[in-house]
Amino acid sequence: MARSRTEIRKFDHLDIALKEDVGFHLSNWLDDAHLIHRALPELDLEEIDLGAEFLGHRIRAPILIESMTGGTGRASKLNEILAKAAEKFGIPLGLGSQRAALESPRLARTFKVAREAAPSIPIFANIGVPQIIGEDGPEIAGSVVDMVGADALCIHLNALQEAIQPEGEPRFSRGLEAIAAIAKSLRVPVIAKETGCGISGEVAKALERAGVACIDIGGAGGTSWSAVECHRAKRMGLRKRERIGLAFWDWGIPTGASLLEASNSTGLPLISSGGLRDGLDVAKSIALGASLGGFARKLLLAANMGQRRLEEALEILLDELRIAMFLTGCRDVGELRRAPVVLSGRLLEWARLRGIDPQKYSMRR
Ligand SMILES: Cc1cc2nc3c(=O)[nH]c(=O)nc-3n(C[C@H](O)[C@H](O)[C@H](O)COP(=O)(O)O)c2cc1C
Repeated sequence: MARSRTEIRKFDHLDIALKEDVGFHLSNWLDDAHLIHRALPELDLEEIDLGAEFLGHRIRAPILIESMTGGTGRASKLNEILAKAAEKFGIPLGLGSQRAALESPRLARTFKVAREAAPSIPIFANIGVPQIIGEDGPEIAGSVVDMVGADALCIHLNALQEAIQPEGEPRFSRGLEAIAAIAKSLRVPVIAKETGCGISGEVAKALERAGVACIDIGGAGGTSWSAVECHRAKRMGLRKRERIGLAFWDWGIPTGASLLEASNSTGLPLISSGGLRDGLDVAKSIALGASLGGFARKLLLAANMGQRRLEEALEILLDELRIAMFLTGCRDVGELRRAPVVLSGRLLEWARLRGIDPQKYSMRR
């Protein structure tokens, strides 16, 4: 059967993300956020409770497997592995953009496989802004949610990728209006999600006004979509596109800075993602205002090595988070949200220049 252009592109993205160097050269800036070691935690490691509430669901740990795959045979297998692990660990799972399945309904099974493997955890459907602009936006949103029995819809904001991609659709006029229309009519909550360039305070505020229930900041510091498109352009022999991809490789608001921006501009639940490396990055993110820490490529690489390797990676993440909570004397996620954090270097400078008081984090007791 002939493959659609979207299907071929999805295959390329997955292949490049698995084989090539697609990381930012810059870090996520969470190195400049310091939790304060407590030599006397006054609790036992085994007492720590990682459980959390998220969008009305009880989850066993504040960790999200970020939206990545679907739309190809290989993606279907990966979705099954990711979903089985999410179900086992009681954590939410995002699916990749379902655009391919809207264009070719036979591809819907590459997404549905996740719900079959994970009947009880929150699953997030996914679609991009260019696909929902226009009168049929709410209908499209409803159909991707129904396709997988989703508990929320992620609308991804990927302006950089659309601008760099040879066949991209950099059409974002009236994007906010389209998001608002969906947030108003959809039966499940809407999560607005960047894909590696971060969300500023101004955009976070606008999204809150538009009625989204949550923001995934998707900051800079991990997977660079400019890098992915740069590799793709190289494979296609498109030298001009390759050059542009190189120029924007490190574009975006670093994850630590985006988290400060968004958490100081809205009261919405936030997901911290974009280059999170370990459970310690999740702990820092929560202390800076996030509800969850999200991981994409790191878990994809593990899943590509099989179910056992992915589960091992998740066990390590949970242990790291638990130990960070122990060493800061935080019994549960609520206490971690109030733990003191000292900002240094670039993050401190960013906070000051953007009117955010760093002492509101460092002087907590
Ligand atoms: C192979 C791959 C495919 C992705 N596809 C999507 C997608 O379809 N929709 C989306 O919202 N984000 C997508 N993302 C972006 C991730 O959800 C995440 O925002 C980004 O990769 C940053 O996280 P990381 O640094 O942990 O990889 C994808 C990421 C990867 C690695």
